Amino acid sequence: MRAVVTGVAGFIGSALAQRLVDEGHRVVGIDALTPYYDSAVKLRNLTPLLRSDNFEWLNEDLLDFDAETTLRGADVIFHQAGEPGVRGSWSSGFDRYVRNNISATQRILDWLTTAKNVKLVYASSSSVYGNAEKWPCREDQEPRPFSPYGVTKLAAEHLVRAYASNYELACVSLRYFTVYGPKQRPDMLMHRLCETFLGRQSIEIYGDGRQVRDFTFVDDIVDANIRAAGLDLPGEQIVLNVCGGSTVSLGEVISILERATGTDAHVVRSPSQPGDVARTGGDNSAARRLLGWEPRTAVEEGLLRQFAWHASTPTD
Ligand code: UGA
Repeated sequence: MRAVVTGVAGFIGSALAQRLVDEGHRVVGIDALTPYYDSAVKLRNLTPLLRSDNFEWLNEDLLDFDAETTLRGADVIFHQAGEPGVRGSWSSGFDRYVRNNISATQRILDWLTTAKNVKLVYASSSSVYGNAEKWPCREDQEPRPFSPYGVTKLAAEHLVRAYASNYELACVSLRYFTVYGPKQRPDMLMHRLCETFLGRQSIEIYGDGRQVRDFTFVDDIVDANIRAAGLDLPGEQIVLNVCGGSTVSLGEVISILERATGTDAHVVRSPSQPGDVARTGGDNSAARRLLGWEPRTAVEEGLLRQFAWHASTPTD
């Protein structure tokens, strides 16, 4: 398979590209190293990939690149690039979310209308559900994003649907639920907690800490992407929840690390953040059925793997 991975220097993009390269596929990775977090961290994510003859990195912005030259010859585009993070999408930050989540996706879709038999796997988000009325959320319930970030991720899903049905494209949108594991983004809960338990950072816990997330291990997300690339349903957008099936509260996450390290968490309490939902939780039965996929890593095992990675990785 010849794959294009956008956002290849990010947490999920780099893990996906590594797995594809390890399996013998050719990968063109695109990443503009946008400044959401330190580009040194992203370059470190790319380092092992750059050693492979099967990998090429293009330091390109999706809104300002030669799609025809770059994307030609691809069998599948894994579109992982975007402006991540829920809490920064208000106010003046919003323009970046529109640009990097909606307009960039439209640019790829537009190119796909000129290509033949190229599949798209789009990285969507549990944030499209917002504060849902019932859990676990199913793909066919009404999405009601609670943050501008979620609005942009949902808008891009709608674009995927419009392009897929008008131009007979084969597209899968995977709604990721709070992905964690080695190399997790530095602004996310588990990254900060692991660094806190190692005594290298302090963490603020937003709100009462009773928020619940359907945390999903990165290898399971990678696996779902690769399986989704095998689906061939032109003219439709398939939307699938990709979630871990083990929903726990922040307090429980902290307890796992307290038990593992034998130390008490030292956290600072802060006000709850706009856009932060009380709970996420997905029904993953459609992904199980259509992809033959299941989450393999429970939160305790996955978090301890992430903690071991932090412990063996020097501070940024
Ligand atoms: C995550 C990602 O950041 C989004 O990009 C993604 O789209 C979304 O998951 C998703 O499910 O699709 P979030 O659930 O907010 O968003 O993930 P974290 O940043 O790890 O936060 C989890 C919880 O911990 C939230 O309630 C947050 O308020 C809390 N938190 C996070 C803290 O209390 N302190 C922190 O320093 C970080």
